[in-house]
Order: sequence, then C-alpha cells, then structure tokens
Amino acid sequence: MKNRRRRKGPKKTHRKNYKKSRTQTFDRKFYSKEDIFISRMASILQLPKGEIKHLFYKRSRTTIRLNHLIADPRKTFRFLTQTKGWELQKINGFKDTYFINNADKSVVSKTEEYLNGDFYIQDLASILSVYILDPQEGEKILDMCAAPGSKTTLISAMTDNKASITANDSNLPRIGKLNNVLHQFGSKNVRVTNEDGILIGRVTPDHYDRVLLDAPCSGEGRVYLASSKPLRFWSIKRVKSLVSVQRELLDSAFRALKPGGTLVYSTCTLEPDENEGVVTHLLKTFKNARVESIDFVDGLDVLLTKSIRPGITKWSGKEYHHSLSKSLRTVPSPEMMGFYVVKIGKG
Ligand SMILES: C[S@@+](CC[C@H](N)C(=O)[O-])C[C@H]1O[C@@H](n2cnc3c(N)ncnc32)[C@H](O)[C@@H]1O
Repeated sequence: MKNRRRRKGPKKTHRKNYKKSRTQTFDRKFYSKEDIFISRMASILQLPKGEIKHLFYKRSRTTIRLNHLIADPRKTFRFLTQTKGWELQKINGFKDTYFINNADKSVVSKTEEYLNGDFYIQDLASILSVYILDPQEGEKILDMCAAPGSKTTLISAMTDNKASITANDSNLPRIGKLNNVLHQFGSKNVRVTNEDGILIGRVTPDHYDRVLLDAPCSGEGRVYLASSKPLRFWSIKRVKSLVSVQRELLDSAFRALKPGGTLVYSTCTLEPDENEGVVTHLLKTFKNARVESIDFVDGLDVLLTKSIRPGITKWSGKEYHHSLSKSLRTVPSPEMMGFYVVKIGKG
C-alpha cells in the first residue's frame, strides 16, 4: 500500500519546465502602463507610437466662447483683447468662439470676467458635440449626464434661453456644481434633476425633441502624459466595466427621444467598445434607431478637419455596425481633445 502512494511535488519533467519558465521570465520585457496606453492608442488611431506619444504629451490650446447670456460679446472681445492684451483667434464655424494664443487656462480662469460668466472656457471637441446636437428654441431637450454643465450652458446660449432644458446627473455633489455653473453663466429654463439616467427613458418615453448623452467614460481623450500620474484612473479593466452602464444609458436616452428627434451620444474616450460598440448594441436592440450623417463638420477649417476621423467599423477582431463610419472621432491635437460623437435618429 505504502509503495503505491503518489510522490509529493512535481514530476521530473515538470521540474524541467519549471526551470525553463523561470529563465523566460527573466528575459521578458517589462511594459509600463504608459507603454500599454500608447500601443492601444496607436492601434485605435492607426498612427505610429512616436506620433501618439507626441500628441499625448502636448497641452491643448485655451478655447473660450463669449457668453451673450451675461454680457455683450463685442464688449467682452474688446476688453479681453485691448485691456487684457489677449490674442484671440476666431474659430470659423463656431459663434463667438476663440483660441487664446498667449494666455494659459490657469490665468484665464482666475479673471473677474470669467468668474462673472462673460465667457466660458471649453474644449472645442466638447463644443462640437453640442453643435452636432443643434438645439433649437422652443424644444424640449434632455442633457442626461449634465454635470458640471459645460454643454448645458452652451445649449442655453445656442437657444437664447428659449428651450425647455432638463439637466440631469446621478451624482449629488456634482449637481451642486451644475447649479453653480448654470447660475454663473446665466442659463434659464433649466430643470435640474438628480436621477439615475438609466431610468429616465421608461419614465418619460418619446418625450424629448433632442437628447444629449455625454456618457461617463474612461477619459482617454483627456490624458496629458506630462502631468503627474496621468493614467491613475485608466485601465483596460475599467474600460470594460464602463460598457454596460453606457449601453443602459444609451438605451434609456433613445427611449426618452421623440420619434423624429435627434440623439447625440458622446464620450471623451477613444475606445471603440465604449463608442461604436455601445451604439452597435443600440442598433441591434431598436430597429427604429439609425445613425445619421454629421454634415456640420464639412464646412470647418482644415486646421480642425485634419484631426477628425470617421468612426471605426472593425477593430481588434471586432466588427461594429457599418453605418458607424458616419460617426466621428477627434484625434487629440492642440486644437481639440480626443472625443467621439455620433448622431442618432429615431424612426
Ligand atoms: C462626462 S461627465 C459629463 C460632463 C458634462 N456633460 C459636461 O459637459 O459638463 C459624465 C457625467 O455622468 C454622470 N453619470 C454617471 N453615471 C450616471 C447615471 N447612471 N445617470 C446619470 N448620470 C450619470 C457623472 O456623474 C458625470 O457627471
């Protein structure tokens, strides 16, 4: 009996393999989180890694839009250029919107005029998503994930405070910020709600003329690699975990939209699964959902269009709905952060 007991420990052959694998571990290259991030961005954006590194190490320019809800834009322009000495470069296609060529965000955001609400500091990609939404006076508009309110204040400005806006966010501390921002920048006719966006579509189906879903995301488009710990919140695990809430939010946003209305889904991330993947899921779920063309970008300067790419339909062995080539992705550049925008219609 004793002799038939199995010997403890690995067999001789296993030991051989064990030694071999230890040697292999020694030879293996160590990849930092930054290496992984850069390789992934290079693969998504189809650019060489060297170029990607360069893009994510550059700070974006300061962009402002003059806010006619608080002050006369001509007076603000004169004050900022003549008294402050700022060099404002007009951005064609966007009303009262300028790059500041000689003042940093940290300086601009401390001025009395900013605190007074005379102008708003906002990345051009974020502005672009609201132009694609194209809000109109008299409409019912839902901003489903609104805090801290950059896009809500632009919707108010574009509709001259004559639309009926619902600005929602599930995060209570951020609702406080949203209320302050709306007050500071003169937004009126805004009903602020603190709901889980996932529930809104079932509570108010077919209700809104336009819905903006600027979804919570992994934020790759905002990464600035020269800052301290730029990737502390980023991981592939996090990307994967966001997809299910993004799908549920988009389902809900689509339900809340009136037939014939316009839904814009946007994120400040570049991940196809958080963007084209989420919309592909919507298109499979709702037969009356369709992706619409974004004509607005056709008339923009080449300075901007060179950073705008069509949506992806195949990536890393996955296929996304063919119509998503009509969506767009902005490549991070000094002019705009990385962003994704798709316009969806309801039949
Ligand atoms: C990208 S930020 C929105 C930025 C905002 N649109 C702007 O332009 O200022 C995403 C927001 O979604 C909110 N959020 C996350 N999950 C949510 C949910 N289930 N329902 C509603 N809001 C949610 C977060 O609190 C966060 O404020």
